[in-house]
Amino acid sequence: MLTKRLWYALTVLLLIGLVASACSQPTEAPTEAPEVEEPAPVEEEEPMAEEPAEEEPMGSELEIYSWWAGDEGPALEALIELYNGMYPDVEVINATVAGGSGTEAKAVLKTRMLGGDPPDTFQVHAGQELIGTWVVADRMEDLTSLYEEEGWMDKFPEGLMDLLSTSDGIWSVPVNIHRSNVLWYIPDNLEEWGVEAPETWDDFLAICPTLQDQGVVPLSLGVNWTHNHLWEAVALSELGPEGWNALWTGEKQFTDPDVVATWDLFGKILDCTNEDATSLSWQQATDMVLSGDAAFNEMGDWAMTYFTVINGLEPGVDYAWSPAPGTDGVFMALSDSFGLPVGAPNPENVINWLSLMGSVEGQDAFNPLKGSIAARLDSDLTKYNAYGQSAAEDWASDEVVGSLAHGAVANETFMNGFASGMEVFLNTGDPVATSNALQELALESEVTSVEAEAEPMAMELGSEDNPIKVLFVPSVDTNFMIESGDLIEQGLNEATGLNFEVSVPASYAATIEEMCASPDDTIGFIPAFGYVLANDLCGVEPGLASERYGWNVYWTQFIVPRDSDIQSFEDLEGMSWGYPEVTSTSGYLYPTALFNDMGITPGEQVETGGHTEAVRAVYNGEVDFATTYFSAPLLPEGEGTWSTDMAPDIPDDLIAECAPDEEGKLFCGGYRVLDARASLTEEAPDVVQKVRILGLTPEIPNDTMSFGPEFPEDLRQTINDAVIAFIGTEACEQSLCNENFYDWTGAGPIFDENFDGVRILVEEQGITLENIGE
Ligand code: GAL
Repeated sequence: MLTKRLWYALTVLLLIGLVASACSQPTEAPTEAPEVEEPAPVEEEEPMAEEPAEEEPMGSELEIYSWWAGDEGPALEALIELYNGMYPDVEVINATVAGGSGTEAKAVLKTRMLGGDPPDTFQVHAGQELIGTWVVADRMEDLTSLYEEEGWMDKFPEGLMDLLSTSDGIWSVPVNIHRSNVLWYIPDNLEEWGVEAPETWDDFLAICPTLQDQGVVPLSLGVNWTHNHLWEAVALSELGPEGWNALWTGEKQFTDPDVVATWDLFGKILDCTNEDATSLSWQQATDMVLSGDAAFNEMGDWAMTYFTVINGLEPGVDYAWSPAPGTDGVFMALSDSFGLPVGAPNPENVINWLSLMGSVEGQDAFNPLKGSIAARLDSDLTKYNAYGQSAAEDWASDEVVGSLAHGAVANETFMNGFASGMEVFLNTGDPVATSNALQELALESEVTSVEAEAEPMAMELGSEDNPIKVLFVPSVDTNFMIESGDLIEQGLNEATGLNFEVSVPASYAATIEEMCASPDDTIGFIPAFGYVLANDLCGVEPGLASERYGWNVYWTQFIVPRDSDIQSFEDLEGMSWGYPEVTSTSGYLYPTALFNDMGITPGEQVETGGHTEAVRAVYNGEVDFATTYFSAPLLPEGEGTWSTDMAPDIPDDLIAECAPDEEGKLFCGGYRVLDARASLTEEAPDVVQKVRILGLTPEIPNDTMSFGPEFPEDLRQTINDAVIAFIGTEACEQSLCNENFYDWTGAGPIFDENFDGVRILVEEQGITLENIGE
């Protein structure tokens, strides 16, 4: 059993108190758990029951919190049924938050734990998810006395005990051992397609085109966490168990060539997966194998529940499995466990629940339905199906390593950082950039033993441990954005003394969701459309909008021949309309939305090809009116600047004077014309005499910098000032202000009411979180 010991020994030497990397978590769900914060003050600590309760507690509750909802539920339900039989007076609340691997459940749990509202007991992976997340934060009760009472000290594998313990105690009860590195398939289908289960990833890549040519997805994949799950199998195959373990002791760097190579291989494998992966749950990805749409799925052995318990297939006959390619002889393990959080409302009922869960009877009721094997060494294997028995055999003979995706080797903070690394890869496809990002995460993190004193995290917003998260949308060159993120962090740090952490989530939607999921510490650089959705979703608030030509908003102007009878928007009904292009926001989308909103239907529509062309069409009388961008005129010296309560056009008494100066600039008395008409000056110096502005739309703010809804009020002005100050700097020139980034040249305050026009546009255009940015 030396190999198993090694796994355990390595997994306890782990990363504590990691600081999230320069990026933050991209999520399949809006609420992936961020790093663990300093414990919120817990009211009165409930004294822990010294002894397991002798007598049955009367008529109280037991809330069991997990992500085993729906088709992941049968095993837990079987265990609860046993408990109900033993403790009929206890009302069991089976509290589930659905979502594979607990991405959503963990976020909600964190809120509850920090808010002083812990469930009675909750699902947590043995290893760093338990120790490095909750135990270091003093959130769990010591269960040593329960283990002693139940005689469990030698009933679980020694190494597993190490994953549940520190020198101060034993912190949870394991219910199972799952295997993460399994490849699932349907033998009859493989035969029909003329392929075999691959033994290595090279074998897989070789059959990938064969399958694709037959219209079959070679490997089905689901939401973000399943990408992490797949990567750990790929990395294990490339690095071998020793290399994999070395990654978690800090002996191996993420920038080592063989680790970089895992990303290269991972990218090739991704090319053989389904395009809609990120919208599928793990079950939906498994379904693709069931339905014959995909050949393989790499997933943990909870997939057995889905194949057999839910869909009634016979293991080894209707479907089959093998170790993930290149990992034969290695069992990548994880263990689900439950503990007793500090302050749990019904500790005695929890102790009874844990006693059942750790018993042979409990484990053998649960695991045959779960796809896992018992954590206990003395379970009754005859109760397990063909899959369970083969897993038990492999567990006994294979080398065992810990899973990253399921909490064995890394705590939640590291996992969040890792997910950002994955995001870098999905955005850039660049193995080196990804490895660098992960290495940065590893460097910022201290590799230490779980026995070491855990420093409580300083939670002051903007401190090193709790930087302000600065999010962008991946609208331009993402690589450039990520690379220049440091400059923005430094620049804002210099201006404020606070710490910032820049990231570029994978999509517009992911950025918005992250602002909502992290409402008190995020600022987001999001376009006006995104702002409206984010405000609607969770109350994100505006801070600044970027400035161009002195304005941080823009408008559409409606122009008509100066002698036209058209005097109001209503008069545009049935009139021929010239616009620049159908993709132009000010020239087409916005006026279309307004027409719909006002119930106006123009007549013939003419796509002129550009703003200048649209002006020309009015000038030549080819259309009755046109829509183009409006820029405010410069007023005569000493008269200040144009404001929205002034008419947009040049005063009537100056029209006759309009003419270009010697540089070709169009002036009317002291007024300088800057709207789209000015672009026609050279060929039509009398453009203003011939074309008048009928009116403007409400304003559209330029790109915004917005605040998460709970971002501290007292910091907002500081941040606004810092961003404005940053805009003048060389560092901004090389980042935010660069044309490869957002090209900001200035910024000014913006308010929610400035977005009313955009709201109409968002609604009329049907812009949603799903399609924004497309
Ligand atoms: C794992 C968990 C398994 C299973 C899986 C899919 O993290 O340990 O028991 O629930 O997620 O959700």
